[in-house]
Amino acid sequence: MAAAALLRRSPAARALLSPALSSRLVASKPHSSSPAPPPPSSKPASTKTFSIYRWDPDSPSTKPHLKDYKVDLSDCGPMVLDALLKIKNEQDPSLTFRRSCREGICGSCAMNIDGDNGLACLTKISSEAAGASTISPLPHMFVVKDLVVDMTNFYNQYKSVEPWLKRKDPPAAGGKEIYQSKADRAKLDGMYECILCACCSTSCPSYWWNPEEYLGPAALLHANRLGDANETETQHASAVGDANETKTQHVHARPSSRIPWGLSLREEKLAGSQT
Ligand code: SF4
Ligand code: FES
Repeated sequence: MAAAALLRRSPAARALLSPALSSRLVASKPHSSSPAPPPPSSKPASTKTFSIYRWDPDSPSTKPHLKDYKVDLSDCGPMVLDALLKIKNEQDPSLTFRRSCREGICGSCAMNIDGDNGLACLTKISSEAAGASTISPLPHMFVVKDLVVDMTNFYNQYKSVEPWLKRKDPPAAGGKEIYQSKADRAKLDGMYECILCACCSTSCPSYWWNPEEYLGPAALLHANRLGDANETETQHASAVGDANETKTQHVHARPSSRIPWGLSLREEKLAGSQT
């Protein structure tokens, strides 16, 4: 193999060979370790514009603005996160957003897509290819950069409901396990699935106007979830506080088809946190 490569590169060495052998060596293709390029996509090109919120704290003189990117949908995955990754990889590496699991588990890709909060990895790119899709950060949150928001207050609110099991009874002797009944486990359905993405809280006008005191649907859901589980004490409800004790505030959470996992943010569920 090495001798053949030398012959191909060296005219002096090729001159020593017979004309027939020399022409065969020159005509042969050099070995390449890179895979063959994929065949061109057979789908017709369909370009869609994404208008994406941009703001960089390192360029304070540049105001927040929407920047347009064109993406060929025939060469892109079906979800909004696919388009964002394609833009970042191929057009603008400075575009900043959070993502991790790419399958609706981690909650980190929450953002506002065409006016609705949702997870970019679970939201299909709108089929209305003619119109631009507008993508912005979760509303009424402090922006860290581009589509990344500061979740500190949201996580502090979650922490404030003390989201862990607490029992009045002392633990069983010898660290014996306390079983949960099937009936108690069933009470968690529709609530345990919360991935703390903040889509619900940041779409709630009560949360926008009063984020210091109103905990928002996600934290209340967790407070209620633990009150329903197999504990004998409902201290979580007392941790919720005055600003959260009117039912009307709960129902302001704007229902959205994009709230992940179809969680039960219904009034009757959340109302349980007030007892
Ligand atoms: S309740 Fe749903 S929308 Fe709200 S934080 Fe949890 S997963 Fe996200
Ligand atoms: S990337 Fe994890 S939920 Fe979207």
